[in-house]
Amino acid sequence: CCCCIGGCCGAPRRVMSSNFNLTLAPHQLYFSFIFSLFHQVKPKKAKFGPLSDEDRIFTNLYGRYDWRLKGSVRRGDWYKTKEIMLKGSEWIINEVKVSGLRGRGGAGFPTGMKWSFMNKPSDGRPKYLVVNADEGEPGTCKDREIMRHDPHKLIEGCLIAGRAMGARAAYIYIRGEFYNESSNLQVAIYEAYKAGLIGKNACGSGFDFDVFVMWGAGAYICGEETALIESLEGKQGKPRLKPPFPADIGVFGCPTTVSNVETVAVAPAICRRGGAWFASFGRERNSGTKLFNISGHVNTPCTVEGGWDNLLGVIPGGSSTPIIPQHVCNDVLMDFDDLVRAETALGTAAIIVLDKSSDVIRAIARLVEFYKHESCGQCTPCREGVDWMDKMMWRFVGGEAAASEIDMIWELSKQIEGHTICALGDGAAWPVQGLIRHFRPVMESRIAQYNKKNPPRQPDIEMI
Ligand SMILES: Cc1cc2nc3c(=O)[nH]c(=O)nc-3n(C[C@H](O)[C@H](O)[C@H](O)COP(=O)(O)O)c2cc1C
Ligand code: SF4
Repeated sequence: CCCCIGGCCGAPRRVMSSNFNLTLAPHQLYFSFIFSLFHQVKPKKAKFGPLSDEDRIFTNLYGRYDWRLKGSVRRGDWYKTKEIMLKGSEWIINEVKVSGLRGRGGAGFPTGMKWSFMNKPSDGRPKYLVVNADEGEPGTCKDREIMRHDPHKLIEGCLIAGRAMGARAAYIYIRGEFYNESSNLQVAIYEAYKAGLIGKNACGSGFDFDVFVMWGAGAYICGEETALIESLEGKQGKPRLKPPFPADIGVFGCPTTVSNVETVAVAPAICRRGGAWFASFGRERNSGTKLFNISGHVNTPCTVEGGWDNLLGVIPGGSSTPIIPQHVCNDVLMDFDDLVRAETALGTAAIIVLDKSSDVIRAIARLVEFYKHESCGQCTPCREGVDWMDKMMWRFVGGEAAASEIDMIWELSKQIEGHTICALGDGAAWPVQGLIRHFRPVMESRIAQYNKKNPPRQPDIEMI
């Protein structure tokens, strides 16, 4: 069958959770189970509204101050790190659990729980923390701000997360295009070694910990955690079938946890100020502070100005999340659960704004083209299906598609979703589904306009 992607154990099956739109292969059921338990609790309202300056974690986001060690220490980094380390891994993991932190790399998995999977008795193999700094999702540009303007937050986070997991070292996998970011990061790592903050007996805690930077070559798929591990090992960046999960067999065959830059960088603040402090922001299960990227049709990227009456729609969480139109934007909350309720997702919280001047069909076609280009080609539904979607989407842009092709491409997107090794296939399918869900009349009217301008040719009587 055309959607088989390999051995029987890898044959994809689909499990839809009604309140968390995940499509899972069998090996992911374990996580699905844990997640469903986690999702049975009804969210309660917590603190909303503007964040006061003293509650901001990333106080040098705009690069106004010194990003080096001296400046970072002045802003509170590396404060009492030794004491945090000495409290031990159980304590750190518990604070992270209490904080309610969910992974900032897109899937929103509870971080404390994820880190605790590594906290098993050692079987002699070293353990590793891998920091995902690939940041390839279109519209997403939060991790780079941390790395170039606040690199010590990430390095301190690596040490604390590493202590929580009993990891020997952290590998920061950074996309090759981030030249300035990686050089700042490298300078900061050098400063931290020199000051005895990392390396042997890090911070005087008795814990040895190294931090390495590894450059990728700029492939979107290398952001997927198992493709990233392959790339780190010097192989082609192609996702692995799971199980085994990285926590059992990760980089170099050793237990590994892959965490996003932002996730790791907030850990020191959580440990210093307490998990309960972090949990006091946002709704339950959607807690904490969060970096949002705003791009697209806004006067100033990162700051929305000029009112909302010119708003066509918003792609709320990076390019792979379904678009929502203005009437949905009016009352949806920018958190994990409310966006799922609106049939989209928080993803990376990279908001792409489209005003009424945009050609929404073309915008989505361009995203599908991106996913077609980035597919690693291992799974037929992704390799072939996204290519078909791409061809069809450009027919919708011109209007020369038949109206019946709208249902056809919907069905095609459903055949891709949940039938692939990694979530790139889903990420390609969801933008198309969002378009059809909310902008079907626009697609129909484009087709009608085209047909009006290009009426079907009458049979030529003379030729008959
Ligand atoms: C195609 C694809 C690309 C991804 N790209 C990134 C990325 O650039 N950065 C990232 O942190 N996570 C990315 N992810 C998610 C990672 O696989 C992984 O879930 C994440 O790094 C875990 O970190 P977290 O638990 O801190 O969220 C991607 C996933 C997929 C399927
Ligand atoms: S879904 Fe696409 S990118 Fe992911 S493994 Fe399959 S072919 Fe590769």
